[in-house]
Amino acid sequence: MKPTARELQRYESLAEEISRHDVAYYTLAQPAISDFEYDKLYRELKDFEEKYPGHKLPDSPTNRVGAAPLEQFRQVEHRVKMESLDNTYSFPEVEEFFARMEKLLEGRKVSYVVEPKVDGVAVSVRYEQGKLVLGLTRGDGSKGDDITENLKTLKQLPLTVKGAPEVLEVRGEVYMTHAGFSRMNQEREEKGLELFANARNATAGTLKLLDSREVAKRPLSIVLYGVGEVKGWSLASQDEVLATLKKLGFSVPEWHALAANGEEVLASITKLDQLRKKFSYPTDGAVVKVNEFAARAELGSTAKAPRWAIAYKFAPEQAETTLKAVTFQVGRTGVITPVAELETVQLSGTKVSRATLHNADEIARKDIREGDTVVIEKAGEIIPKVVAVVLSKRPAEAVPFDFAARLTELGLDAVREPGEVVWRLRQPSQEQRIRALSHFASKQCLDIENFGPAVAEALITAGYVKTPGDLFSLKHEQLVLLDKLADKSAENLLSGIEAAKRRELWRLIHALGIPNIGAQTARDLARHFGSLDALAGATYESYLRKKLGKKGQELKAEESVIPGVGGVVAESLLVWFTDPAHRELLEQLRVAGVSFADEKKNDAGNAPLMGKTFVITGTLSKPRSYFEEKIRALGGEVSGSVGKKTSYLLAGEEAGSKLEKAQKLGVTVLSEEDFNKLVG
Ligand code: IVH
Repeated sequence: MKPTARELQRYESLAEEISRHDVAYYTLAQPAISDFEYDKLYRELKDFEEKYPGHKLPDSPTNRVGAAPLEQFRQVEHRVKMESLDNTYSFPEVEEFFARMEKLLEGRKVSYVVEPKVDGVAVSVRYEQGKLVLGLTRGDGSKGDDITENLKTLKQLPLTVKGAPEVLEVRGEVYMTHAGFSRMNQEREEKGLELFANARNATAGTLKLLDSREVAKRPLSIVLYGVGEVKGWSLASQDEVLATLKKLGFSVPEWHALAANGEEVLASITKLDQLRKKFSYPTDGAVVKVNEFAARAELGSTAKAPRWAIAYKFAPEQAETTLKAVTFQVGRTGVITPVAELETVQLSGTKVSRATLHNADEIARKDIREGDTVVIEKAGEIIPKVVAVVLSKRPAEAVPFDFAARLTELGLDAVREPGEVVWRLRQPSQEQRIRALSHFASKQCLDIENFGPAVAEALITAGYVKTPGDLFSLKHEQLVLLDKLADKSAENLLSGIEAAKRRELWRLIHALGIPNIGAQTARDLARHFGSLDALAGATYESYLRKKLGKKGQELKAEESVIPGVGGVVAESLLVWFTDPAHRELLEQLRVAGVSFADEKKNDAGNAPLMGKTFVITGTLSKPRSYFEEKIRALGGEVSGSVGKKTSYLLAGEEAGSKLEKAQKLGVTVLSEEDFNKLVG
């Protein structure tokens, strides 16, 4: 069906109007219409797009929901190097910076801009003819990961910019607000998912997700404070950049100061330290930049960073309070973490009543006693730490804290293995078993259908399951005895468990619940080792090797063999695989017939779709993830957009622009029925 000229015109003007309201709402925080009116416009836009999918604009405001997941991120070169800055921690160091500027510029006057240093992840976004075409991470400064699809889900980032020059690269920081971050962590806690330690980690983890539809659900925001390549305009100073970006509809730092000299800069930094407490996002310092670009060009860069800017980090905020008691927290892997229960106190804008004490050694080293007055600090992490005891305020009756004795008192049967810093429960508790089992079966692990925390709890409580390996010997007769589990769902559960035996290797690795191994690391490990046996047999040298010097000689320093897998992760893996209980679990899984390796992609018998790339579009009878998994299991790949390399377009009902493009490029189009025939 084709829209009339009038309908099309209405649609285009609606899209533009909604984009404008998005900027007003998300970037300027000055909504021009009510939510109700906005929803009405949005609904009208969506109705048109559903009716005429072929006419949907690529930069429609509805395109914020993400695209099909990627296999991995493409690496793209930065046109203009993306540099970073070293941190300084004291005013004298900032003063040295002014002295350097004066010397290098031979006394020529420059001004400075002071901006908040937003604690997030640096990105670069490229617009060509006003259209967002590319989004990159910093990477190593020369090349970054192509995270375009992830960035497009950020409502604060315009997809189209009116009045932009031919090429405009904007640079800034993706972050999470305090509120967005705590809401997200709360939801994760409710779902039994691992919590992020702080907003920065959460942002970095989110931007690394290969499925932009998941990114769309996370509370990411962006602030822009610089430019990369610009063609068709010439910008002369930092304050001009900030004003121009703001005028174009980008979100810029909510505060900045122009300073004429060093003294004014230091005063602005002090002012920022006060103001930042009210900011909605984490700010860990100030960035001081030479304002004039001509001077910047003269100053240039060292091998590591530009000479014209400096980052100053604020000291973490501290507070004094009373340590009422030390309690213990037991993690998924049985590790016991001591927690300080505190007299509630205000710190960095939040009320704090608990802090981590790390481990037994830390308590002994600092001689932390119940009843003590302690100094707590929040350095980026959400959980504050106890940094010192105020000895002058120690009560006479305070006695040294005896970790082992307290464990016994509480009836916790724990051990501390030689060489380990942590105490661990000898036998996992019921609660830990439930958590481990829920994790094993969860979406990002073996993805067992019809399995949730309630089922995990029922199975453990009934005593049918002690370790995840026991799942595979469950009987139908046992399941129907469980409360709330009908005959039919018992059957579904069993078939879900059966299917879980042949999942991708990374899922199995993630499912094992090895400390420090999240989904992304599990993927990296699976790609590197290829099988669970190879991973289990890895040694220290499999992860870390000596760096080589210029002449090929071995240096003292070590580097990762697998990018992103450093000492902490390596240690975690090595310890985990030496535990006899874990070895036993692996054998149990092997006997049950769980596949320990990804199906060989070069085995044409198992991988009839080897070398074929699919794009999926339109409405199909099952969720897209079903088709994606099927394609990948048979050796094929799935991509989000149609191009010359696309082998097939699987097109459901109401396929839109992708179908048109495929037809134009002569790509074979499959209906769902054709697809089913193809995969047998
Ligand atoms: S300027 C070469 N401005 O902090 C110029 N950076 O330690 C570098 N950051 O790598 C960027 N807020 O990731 C700049 N207002 C701001 C910033 C900022 C946060 C980050 C950025 C940078 C690091 C510098």
